[in-house]
Amino acid sequence: MSTHALTRRNLLLGGLGVAATATLTACTGARGTTGTPTRTIGAPAPVTPSAGQRVVEKALTAKPVTLDLGGRSVSTWAYGETVPGPLVRAKAGDLLRINLDNQLPADTTIHWHGIRLRNAADGVPGQTQDPIRPGSTYVYEFTAPDPGTYFFHPHVGVQLDRGLYAPMVIEDPNEPGNYDTEWTLVLDDWVDGTGTTPDEVLKKLIADGGPATGSMGGMGGMGGMDHGSMGGMGAGPWGDAGDVAYPLFLINGRPPNDPDVLTAKPGQRVRLRIISAASDTIFTVALGGHRLTVTHTDGHAVEPAEVDALYIGMGERYDAVVTLKDGAFPFVARPFGKTSGGQAMALVRTGSGTPPGADITPNELTGQILIGSQLQPAPSAKLPEREPDAQAQLTLNGSMKPYQWGINGATFGDNDPLTVKAGQRLRIHATNMTMMTHPLHLHGHTFALPSGLRKDTVLMAPMQSFAIDLDADNVGDWMIHCHNIYHAEAGLMIALNYTA
Ligand code: C2O
Ligand code: CU
Repeated sequence: MSTHALTRRNLLLGGLGVAATATLTACTGARGTTGTPTRTIGAPAPVTPSAGQRVVEKALTAKPVTLDLGGRSVSTWAYGETVPGPLVRAKAGDLLRINLDNQLPADTTIHWHGIRLRNAADGVPGQTQDPIRPGSTYVYEFTAPDPGTYFFHPHVGVQLDRGLYAPMVIEDPNEPGNYDTEWTLVLDDWVDGTGTTPDEVLKKLIADGGPATGSMGGMGGMGGMDHGSMGGMGAGPWGDAGDVAYPLFLINGRPPNDPDVLTAKPGQRVRLRIISAASDTIFTVALGGHRLTVTHTDGHAVEPAEVDALYIGMGERYDAVVTLKDGAFPFVARPFGKTSGGQAMALVRTGSGTPPGADITPNELTGQILIGSQLQPAPSAKLPEREPDAQAQLTLNGSMKPYQWGINGATFGDNDPLTVKAGQRLRIHATNMTMMTHPLHLHGHTFALPSGLRKDTVLMAPMQSFAIDLDADNVGDWMIHCHNIYHAEAGLMIALNYTA
C-alpha cells in the first residue's frame, strides 16, 4: 500500500504547486495522509483500571474474507467472518481493552469513531500510534466516558470502504430505557471485490481528475463547479453529494435482495441505532408505514423530533424510537443523488404480510426529511454557557477536477495544524468553499453547533458555514477531516494539536 500512497502523494503535490511550496517551510514535520505515517510513536503506556472500574475485553482479527452478498461472492477485508464486524458493547465509564490481530496484507489501525478517549488509543498512524504491521497485534485500552451509538474502523488509506467496520454501543447506566428492544442498523456503500477495490477507486478518481493545472485553482474554492450534474434526485440540500458509483448498498452487511430481517411484536417500542459506515454516500433513511422519533445524534440527546425520514452522512449516527405496527415493513436507506446501485433495505417484521420488493419507495422517503444539524439539543447535552477563549478558521477547499481536497488551502501534511490550549473553549469557524457536501468529523471531542446541538460529524452543504465550539478537555494531537474517506485520503484533513 505504501507504493500506492507514494504515487498518490506525488500526483497531489504535483498539482498543488505554489501553495504547497509556500507552506512547506511552516510545516511542523512532514506527515503523510491517513496511510503514510512518517513519525515513530512507540508502544502505548499500559492502563490500569481505576478502583471499581469494570474492564471489557474483546479480541478482534482483521483479515481477508469472502462474503456472500445476496448471491454475489466478494473478497474483502473484515473484522472476523462477518460484515459488519462484531458489536462492541460496554457501559459508560468502563475500561475497554481490545486486542487487534492484524492478519491483513497491509498495515492497519482502529479508530473508535466519536469516543472521547485518550489520545494514545485514537488509531491515527503517525500521530497517535505506529501502524500495526501485517502479522502483529496491538492492544487498545481506553475508558469510554460517554454513552451513545458509535462505530469503529481503520484510519489507514481507504480501508474503511472495505468490510472493516463494526458498531459500538456505550450504554447509559442512568437511562430509563423507555423501549422494549433495540436494533443496530449499519449502512454502507459497497464496491470492494466487485471487480475493483477501494484503492483502485481512489486511483481512478485521481486519474479521472485529469492532469493538475498547476496552481491552487481548485483549492481556491469554486473549482468543483465543472463537476456538473447534481445527481439523480435533482436539487436537494446536498448538491453534489458523492462521486463513487457503487454497485450495492447494504444494511447490516446485506443487500436488499437478501435483507436482514428484524423481528418484534406489534406495539413494541424499538430503539433504532442507525450508523453510517458509508465512504461516499449520504443516505435518506425511512421506515415504511412509520414515523421516527429521533432522540440522539452522535451519542448526544436531542429534543425528540418526529420525522418521516432523515438524512445521514458518512460517520453520523442517529437514534430513533418507533412503535411498531403489525405487518412487514421496509427500512430503506436511499443513496442521495446517485443513479445506480439501487438502495439499501432491511425488513422489519411484526406479523404476516408480503415482504416489500428491493426497489420499494416508502411514502415517508418523500415526506418531511430531517436535516440533522437542525435538531435542537436536549438541555443535558449542552455545553455550559461560555465565551470562546480562542478562535480558528477552517476552510474546506477542493474540487473533483483535478481531484484535490484540502483544508486552509493545502492538503493534509502541508497545512498548519490548528492549535488550542488545555482548558480553552475554542470556536472554529468552519466554511465549506466547495461545491460538494462534506461530513466534517472531529476526533476526541464533540463540538456544539450555534444551536448548542452536540455532534462529532456534521454535514456541511456547498458554501455552508458553521461556528463550532469545543471544550479543550482532552489533551493530545487530534484530527479534523471530511468523512468522505476518498476526500480524507486525498488530503481533506487537518490536525488539532494541544500546545502548552
Ligand atoms: Cu471515523 Cu478520523 O474518522
Ligand atoms: Cu469531503
